[in-house]
Amino acid sequence: MDRPLRVAALASGRGSNLAALIAARLPVEFVLVGSDKARAGALAVATEAGIPTVSLHPRDFATRADFDRALFGHVAASGADLLVLAGYMRIVDADVVAAWEGRAINVHPSLLPKYRGLHTHRQCLEAGDAEHGASVHFVTAELDGGPVVAQARIPVLPGDTEISLAERLLVEEHKLLPAVVAAIASGRLRWEGGAIFDGLPLTRPLGLTDL
Ligand code: GAR
Repeated sequence: MDRPLRVAALASGRGSNLAALIAARLPVEFVLVGSDKARAGALAVATEAGIPTVSLHPRDFATRADFDRALFGHVAASGADLLVLAGYMRIVDADVVAAWEGRAINVHPSLLPKYRGLHTHRQCLEAGDAEHGASVHFVTAELDGGPVVAQARIPVLPGDTEISLAERLLVEEHKLLPAVVAAIASGRLRWEGGAIFDGLPLTRPLGLTDL
């Protein structure tokens, strides 16, 4: 590509992953940040960085699919090559997601396929796991279910709580997500019906040191 990768992001919350992505100063152009929450911190992060924003209210739409079509319509209109779900906490309509196959990634706070959905830190502690982690995966219609491309791991320490685990893991998320976006921007990581890294089909999740 003879121009920077155009990146759009969707976020529902405070936007620390979005902030880390922007702070990484990657050779990408952020074209839009969208949210389902008008007060999402991520929108303020984007505005501060001079990135256009859009927020739509799900209750203003008759159906979930109508909302998804509208929000993803904005994403498509932004000209984004890549869509990053950075703490976007809604399940997206399968047909709407299908149009972004291989062009959308999500960061999730667990070692997928363990612990999809919510309360991943609690689930990790309750299971007595020795390690926890974060995953970046290509988005499919299945919630937190698409092919995993990269993971970062942390040990579970004696005395860890949901809060301490979440805090330590967030530090890793903030490295992992920019590293994956950098790999996509450089062409090292691409999608051809499956994830390809450095010319070979990806057979196991990459670690931070691979990226
Ligand atoms: C992050 O921990 C991210 O992994 C998680 O939401 C948090 C958003 O924090 N995403 C999911 O759980 C997706 N299923 P942030 O708004 O500070 O980036």
